[in-house]
Amino acid sequence: MTRIVITGASGQYGNIVTDALVAQGRASDLILITRSPAKLAHRAEQGCEVRYGDFDKPETLATAVAGANRMLLISGTRVGARVVQHKAAIDAAAAGGVRHIAYTSFIGIDDDANPAEVRHDHIETERMMRASGMAWTALRDAHYADAMIVMAGPGVMASGKWFSNSGDGREAMVWREDCALSAVAVLTGEGHENRVYNITGPELQDFAEVTAMMSEITGVPLEYVATDDEAQYAMFDAMGIPRRPVDDQYVGGIPWNSDDMVTFGQAIREGFLAICTNDVEKLTGRKARSVRQMIEENVAMLRAAAQGG
Ligand SMILES: NC(=O)c1ccc[n+]([C@@H]2O[C@H](COP(=O)([O-])OP(=O)(O)OC[C@H]3O[C@@H](n4cnc5c(N)ncnc54)[C@H](OP(=O)(O)O)[C@@H]3O)[C@@H](O)[C@H]2O)c1
Repeated sequence: MTRIVITGASGQYGNIVTDALVAQGRASDLILITRSPAKLAHRAEQGCEVRYGDFDKPETLATAVAGANRMLLISGTRVGARVVQHKAAIDAAAAGGVRHIAYTSFIGIDDDANPAEVRHDHIETERMMRASGMAWTALRDAHYADAMIVMAGPGVMASGKWFSNSGDGREAMVWREDCALSAVAVLTGEGHENRVYNITGPELQDFAEVTAMMSEITGVPLEYVATDDEAQYAMFDAMGIPRRPVDDQYVGGIPWNSDDMVTFGQAIREGFLAICTNDVEKLTGRKARSVRQMIEENVAMLRAAAQGG
């Protein structure tokens, strides 16, 4: 019997994965880890097993993973300081008999010149996973289109300006849902052991193109403003966004920090994220959805944001 343990199951990515697995009739195969089991009471009602576990309390993880033979390790949120957290989860899984671990990593991390702050956490976690003795799968997700269109998009619509330090660098932003459904395919399928997948959207675009597309679809004039790194930091500082990550802190509904975002923009500008594959289709059997589709799906919300609503 396959028993799948999922960390970060209460988050947005974990929710999509859990919904899909429950819809496949696999609720009783699932062990869901959270620091707040009450948050997942509805999952227990669906037949999933909900267990307490905290990356920061390694002693909680042995019990949390017991009985599982597959694991989805959804990366934590403390960007730049996650290696210790992920090590605790990987060690517990290896000691507890998990045979195959899949991890939500990030594209473009092989080159150590890539300045993205997130790179270190991901490359180190992949290294630990490969050395663990378990079979592994690295799900290297591109930048979530959701983060830029749904989360940052309303601010762009309200100001009429898209500020970015990514210059004319290109990336293939991907729907978080396509990432999560790719993970489901890996967790439930065979032949994914010891493989790296680059989970990207269907085309490379720069933010000037995305700005023009958002303007065309919403009918609202928008201007792309290329900034340098200092100006980008100053903008985030003025919004009250911390430079370093603060656990569970949200500014304007978004759990962001500016070191992550500014170095992310640099990585795009310098070409490290210009990767586009059809791995979503290979894994899920469906083409990856586009940034255009995400804007179209959110057009009413985006237009309302332009009206101050
Ligand atoms: N590729 C991209 O563009 C991109 C963008 C954003 C995020 N990401 C990555 O993708 C991951 C998933 O994103 P998401 O949107 O699902 O994030 P999310 O909704 O913020 O969920 C984060 C999850 O992390 C869990 N978590 C946080 N600290 C933990 C700890 N100390 N111990 C155990 N669990 C902990 C939380 O579980 P509980 O609160 O239930 O304990 C929560 O379920 C993020 O964590 C991040 O690494 C990638």
